[in-house]
Amino acid sequence: MLIADSQTDTVLFTGDNVNNCDMNSHYEFRQRLEKLTAAGKKVYVIYATHDYSGDGEDNNTFQACRYTETGTEPIESMKKGGLFDFYYDYGPKQALSVHRASGSYTVKLSDGVRLIAIIDNGDGGGYCGLFEDGVEWLIDEINEAKKSGDYVLLATHHPVLPPWEVFRHMADNELYGGYKELWKIMCDNNIRVVFTGHTHIQNIRKYTDENGSWFLDISTVALANAAGKMRKISVDPEKASVSVTSLGTDVLKGVDTGGKSAYEYLYYLNFPGIWEKLIPLAATDFDAFIKLAEGYLPTDKLKKHRLLIRMLAKRAVKIKLSTAARLGKVRRKLSPAQKAEAKSKKLIDTVYVILRHIYTGNAPFTPDTVEYTVLDGLASRADRLVNRFNIKQIKDIIPEGSSLREIAQDFLYNCRTGNDDEINFSLK
Ligand SMILES: [Fe+2]
Repeated sequence: MLIADSQTDTVLFTGDNVNNCDMNSHYEFRQRLEKLTAAGKKVYVIYATHDYSGDGEDNNTFQACRYTETGTEPIESMKKGGLFDFYYDYGPKQALSVHRASGSYTVKLSDGVRLIAIIDNGDGGGYCGLFEDGVEWLIDEINEAKKSGDYVLLATHHPVLPPWEVFRHMADNELYGGYKELWKIMCDNNIRVVFTGHTHIQNIRKYTDENGSWFLDISTVALANAAGKMRKISVDPEKASVSVTSLGTDVLKGVDTGGKSAYEYLYYLNFPGIWEKLIPLAATDFDAFIKLAEGYLPTDKLKKHRLLIRMLAKRAVKIKLSTAARLGKVRRKLSPAQKAEAKSKKLIDTVYVILRHIYTGNAPFTPDTVEYTVLDGLASRADRLVNRFNIKQIKDIIPEGSSLREIAQDFLYNCRTGNDDEINFSLK
């Protein structure tokens, strides 16, 4: 697709490009990069923690392995120190400046536009960001760009803004290390965009500071979580305009998907998709349920509660939205037409749709839908119960000043920038 697309002159990879430092995969990946450059594309690579195995003080303990009939066996791993030379041709070679300690670099994309690619491996786990000298280099690079009158686009691996508010609360160290400092650097210097990876989530989120300065974090979904989407970005430096769209493929070349689309085939191999199979199985065929759950869930414990799980699953797959509306005490909020709709729809189907949009973004249940009213009602009721009975295990996952209801909003519809696939903005 990239080679066929003659409009696109530059390709950027935001890291975790191979499976756990597998050296064979690195060679394969680099061969593909060579194909892109042979077709005339400029190719820039960011590498991240899944791309190497730590040595020395690095906290990254990945080891490459291959699968045998009975398990796995170790194979050659890419070491952290080997990455820079291995990917030298895809960034550092073309760079205006390189920060050798991290591997970060600045390249000119066109007249008036620079890309600063931040390699944010940090200590390999716990802190994934730039250390002090790297931050100094970054600020110098921004100033150099300003002097030349160039706009700056940033890219890094870890998210600079959390895809959902609860993500920051539960997984702060999965964010770019020193993200608040980067927020300030971006806002102070009118840098409007950072492209990120890592989360596997299709997400466009905006940050605005107290002075009204803002930037976007544009994170792109992983192949395995959607129909292989990538971003197509057009920058017009004269008009200072950027347009972002998303392209996907529904074909997996060389894979027998049994007639299924890439998305349908890959979805059920992923954790959210597994639930769509697990829950009905728990109700109808417990042995098959246990077999499928192996490796995902604590099956030893589940086997002990066979009857309870079967009963709960049988209930769960039958509950109608109308019943859920009663539980959430929101029936009176539904119009007569919505009440009829609620009677015809199952709660579990709504849950499956939400799961499908966790990674792909743009969940469809806007505030005017029955599904929104019912789930919003259930979340509000849950908040009241959690507070009344002081349920600490749930209270612990709620960020201060937030609620289950607020957390749920992020998953019901796009309450962020309105569309996780597309956006137009100005670099000014
Ligand atoms: Fe990652």
